[in-house]
Amino acid sequence: MTSSWELWRDKRGRLSPLRIGALAFLLFPLAKGLFDAETILLGARPLNDVIHRAGFWALVFLGATLAVTPLRRVLRSGNLIDIRRMLGVGCFCYIAAHLTLYAADQMFDLGKVMHEISDRWYLIVGGTAWFGLAALAATSTDGMVKRLGGLRWRRLHMLVYAIALLALIHYFQQTKADVTVPVFAASLFLWLMAYRLVAWWQGSGELSTLALLILAIVVSLLTFAGEAVGIGIAFHVSPMRVLSVAFDFSAGIRPGWQMLAAGLAVVAVDFVTGRFSNRALRARPVAAE
Ligand code: HEM
Repeated sequence: MTSSWELWRDKRGRLSPLRIGALAFLLFPLAKGLFDAETILLGARPLNDVIHRAGFWALVFLGATLAVTPLRRVLRSGNLIDIRRMLGVGCFCYIAAHLTLYAADQMFDLGKVMHEISDRWYLIVGGTAWFGLAALAATSTDGMVKRLGGLRWRRLHMLVYAIALLALIHYFQQTKADVTVPVFAASLFLWLMAYRLVAWWQGSGELSTLALLILAIVVSLLTFAGEAVGIGIAFHVSPMRVLSVAFDFSAGIRPGWQMLAAGLAVVAVDFVTGRFSNRALRARPVAAE
């Protein structure tokens, strides 16, 4: 029998390349941290640097967890479900490190940590998301699924959408100047939510390639608009002025373009995998003859 610690093996005890890939993905930030150790240690605030890294990667793994459902359909690979729990628990490990490092930064004065978390808005928001993630991680075992029952478990785990939203707000609140990465993260989240909404609305999990194309364009336009309005309000400038620099690539590639590229990549993958799976389906009766 496979030990539950042997994360690289599937339920039947076979080595799973998918799980090995997911483990490598989850360990990548640690390896990168070690690789960057000298730069981190020579920096002005090493502890603050690793707090940022842990928070950032927790958000990446949260996004990856949410991406499993659409990716299963786009890649026509039901197996991906096998790594969703790993990614979710991995996200919680990084978020646990994020809080522990924050406590270390406060010299483990837990009274001060609690006071800060209840006193500053961005920490109240992050703290709420933290406890939500802890609840999801604690109920992620097979035993808890059985104990809660499938329906109650699914309802509880729908909290992940609200948690992701809070995590994004926390990310924006602590970002001081350049909002490019947070805006891109928010637009990916919007895409993930819009995908689910359309799938639910049309009553089937799968979106056609055309629907994915429309989704990529609409979410990218909303990203341009949202960024322009947000920056306009925050810095008291006209949103039209912000929009006018969208085509000035010397100032960097705006998140709206990044979203469009990501959305079109999904469209391309869907087109290719769709053709291959159709061919495989057409070939099957011939092979059976
Ligand atoms: C009690 C819970 C939490 C505490 C005390 C906390 C604390 C912090 C602190 C101190 C920073 C750096 C702020 C600065 O330098 O000004 C930060 C940044 C960040 N946190 Fe949290 N956080 C919490 C929960 C979360 C959660 C649940 C997430 C996401 C899942 C998260 C994601 C992030 C991200 C993405 C950043 C910015 C990273 C970057 O700059 O690249 N945090 N957090």
